[in-house]
Order: sequence, then structure tokens, then C-alpha cells
Amino acid sequence: MSDIDSLEQTILAAIDAAGDEAALEAVRVGALGKKGSISELLKSLGGMSPDERKVMGPAINGLRDRMGEALLGRRRVLKDAALAARLAAETADISLPLWPSPANAGRIHPISQVTDELTAIFADMGFSVAEGPDVESDFYNFTALNFPEGHPAREMHDTFFFEPKADGKRQLLRTHTSPVQVRTMLGEKPPIRIIAPGRTYRCDSDQTHTPMFHQVEGLVIDKSSTIGTLKWVLEEFCKAFFEVPNVEMRFRPSFFPFTEPSMEVDIRCDRSGPEIKFGEGDDWLEILGCGMVHPNVLRNCGLDPDEYQGFAFGMGIDRIAMLKYGMPDLRAFFDADVRWLKHYGFRPLDLPTLFGGLSV
Ligand code: DAH
Repeated sequence: MSDIDSLEQTILAAIDAAGDEAALEAVRVGALGKKGSISELLKSLGGMSPDERKVMGPAINGLRDRMGEALLGRRRVLKDAALAARLAAETADISLPLWPSPANAGRIHPISQVTDELTAIFADMGFSVAEGPDVESDFYNFTALNFPEGHPAREMHDTFFFEPKADGKRQLLRTHTSPVQVRTMLGEKPPIRIIAPGRTYRCDSDQTHTPMFHQVEGLVIDKSSTIGTLKWVLEEFCKAFFEVPNVEMRFRPSFFPFTEPSMEVDIRCDRSGPEIKFGEGDDWLEILGCGMVHPNVLRNCGLDPDEYQGFAFGMGIDRIAMLKYGMPDLRAFFDADVRWLKHYGFRPLDLPTLFGGLSV
């Protein structure tokens, strides 16, 4: 075997043995680098006789070209193997669940969600939001709302009273959101268009009553609003809230000291199954009271009933939440049971809007 042949075998063996690209590069430098074995051979051509060069020239150049190709082929194999190894080691299991971020884990309570939903609907109709305190005086909760002293309607409210103060007057936990009507009329000039969502309290507890519950009050005072406007507002609200083209409502004559005439409004539902269903069935669930604001209330709030008129309504937020989302027992709302909240709660980033859909 000539020197060239044995050098070729040696280099080929080294190329084969190179286990990675770094080892292969060392082989390349050893053969084709500045001082590599093949480069040295090429340099030796200069000292040869012309006849010798004629033979050795093509032989050495051929060796250089073949080794160059062999190196390139091996590099490709090593590159592919390295990529395959990386792909195998770095594969991601895309079926793994996302790491739960706080924004994914938390839930918005249905009461908060429904309050946001109804606020969005009334805001769209031009109502603003008013507030009042949970601890009220007898004046705002009863007297100004035309509940005369000793009137039986006061007893119907099962009021939580605080201990009497030195002057004998007792604070109370507001039994309805209607005192916000009084506060608004005393503080603002008509036209008035407000809703007042908030907590209310009565000494009462069963499947559809809890001692603390939620109401939203509505009040419109101007010079021209009528019962017709009231019915339209309530129907538009119910259609938007329940996200249906039509809703069946029943207006029944009723009595509230602060409205005349007064009505109670029921909504058609089905309570025969485990969940209450809305819009079907033979049952009616009372969802609100309403009426034209009583002249005495306007007078108590410094407004002239010959100049101003308007309507008011009060709705149970918990009830409409139960109806819309099929929750059978009101008491579960306030049990702070995380499993219940996970089931009935709402994702924090699903904010209700009229254009995006209320209950996404
Ligand atoms: N405040 C009443 C209640 O809690 C509900 C109500 C009825 C509010 C009629 C109103 C109304 O504004 O007009 O039972």
C-alpha cells in the first residue's frame, strides 16, 4: 500500500470514529488544516521533479478532495443525529395543563357578576349608580319613604335594630335599598335616573331568604315619566339580562307606602326540576316591586309633586341571579364553599358588557 493509500485509510478511520462535530473538526484540522497531513503533502509537491509531480499531484489532490467530501458527509450525519437527540430530549408534552395562574384560579361570585351585568344594562339606558350606607336611620329607611310611625308595613320588614342611643333613637340595618332614593332626591336636582345596587338585611331565613341579601333600586324623576316608561324600562332590562328576545312578565297590583300605584312583577319559570328554569313552566317567581313615586315621598325630599313625577323599582339581585344561572338554594350564595364558587363562579377576565355579551 502506498503512503497515500495508508494515509487515506487512517483519515477515513478517524472520520468514522469521530463521535461529534468537535471531534470531526479536529480530524479535519489534522488532515486539511495549515499543518495537516494532506497540506504537508501538498507542500512537498514543490520539491519534486516534474515527472514525480505529474503522478503525485493528481494523487494528493484527489486524496484532498475525497477527504473533504468524506468530512462533509460525516458532518451531515453528526448534525442530523445531534438534532434528533435534541428533539427527543426537548419535546414538550402539549397535553399538560397550563400552570394555573391566580387569574385562572380565582372566581367572581355570581352576585358580583350579576351586579356588573345589570349595571351595564342600566348604564346603557342612561342610569348612573348611586350608593348609600348599610347602617341607616329610621328617617331614610322608613319615615321619608312614607311609612307612618306605627304603620304595620314597618313590622313586615323584620328589621335588625341597633341598641337605642342616648336620645332614644335606634339605627338599623337598611331593610331595602329604597333609602338611597331619598338620599338621591335630597342631594340632586331632577332629572334623576339612578340605580342603587347593594346589601340589605332582614331577620328571615329559608331556601329563598337569607338575613343578608342584595337589592337594586331604580329611580327616575323628571316631569314626564309614566307607568308606560316604567314597564318599558323593566321589559328592556329583563330581555337584556336574560339574553332572550322576549320575556314573560306579570304585573300585579300591590302596596308599598312609597309608591302609588304599586305593582309587583313576576317572571315565568319552571321549578319542577332540580334547577329553576327561566322562561318556561307554569310557575311565577316574584322578582321586583315598583310603582309611581308617592307624592308624599317627593314632598319629603323637597320636590313639588305638581312639578315632578317619576317611578321607582326594587329588585332582588339574588333572585334574578338564581333564575338566570339555575342555582336552586339561595343560602349556598353565602356559605363560602369554594367548590360551589368553582362551579357557579365566573372567570375574572370575563367582564360583562352589552357589546361583548353579558355572560360570555
Ligand atoms: N323596597 C321594596 C322592598 O324591599 C321594594 C320596592 C318596591 C322598591 C317598590 C321600590 C318600589 O322602589 O317602587 O320590598
